[in-house]
Amino acid sequence: MSKTAAQWVEVCKTVELPVGERKIIDLDEKHIMVLNNDGDYYAIESMCTHAMFELDDAEIEKCAIVCPLHGAHFCLKTGEPLTPPAFEAIDTYEVRVQNDIIEISVEE
Ligand code: FES
Repeated sequence: MSKTAAQWVEVCKTVELPVGERKIIDLDEKHIMVLNNDGDYYAIESMCTHAMFELDDAEIEKCAIVCPLHGAHFCLKTGEPLTPPAFEAIDTYEVRVQNDIIEISVEE
């Protein structure tokens, strides 16, 4: 049985991602948004599952990101859709801070 290994990838220093800011990174085939929402860091797939629309400029409402195209809300923590028209979750990634460096966990 093979197990997928997680790999921690450096995103930026904490001072480079103050409250309300976001960074977009492309890792292999993944288009990922790392953001600071009220002091909590999240990493999500920056692509709406409804019609594959980029979420790079999407607004944040409380703990949800809102797709600008048709308004689907996704939970920042779990990626689950909270409102239609999206019914599939977006991917989320674990985030940690090591020596003031923000890192996300991606599977190899
Ligand atoms: S593309 Fe995001 S809700 Fe339709």
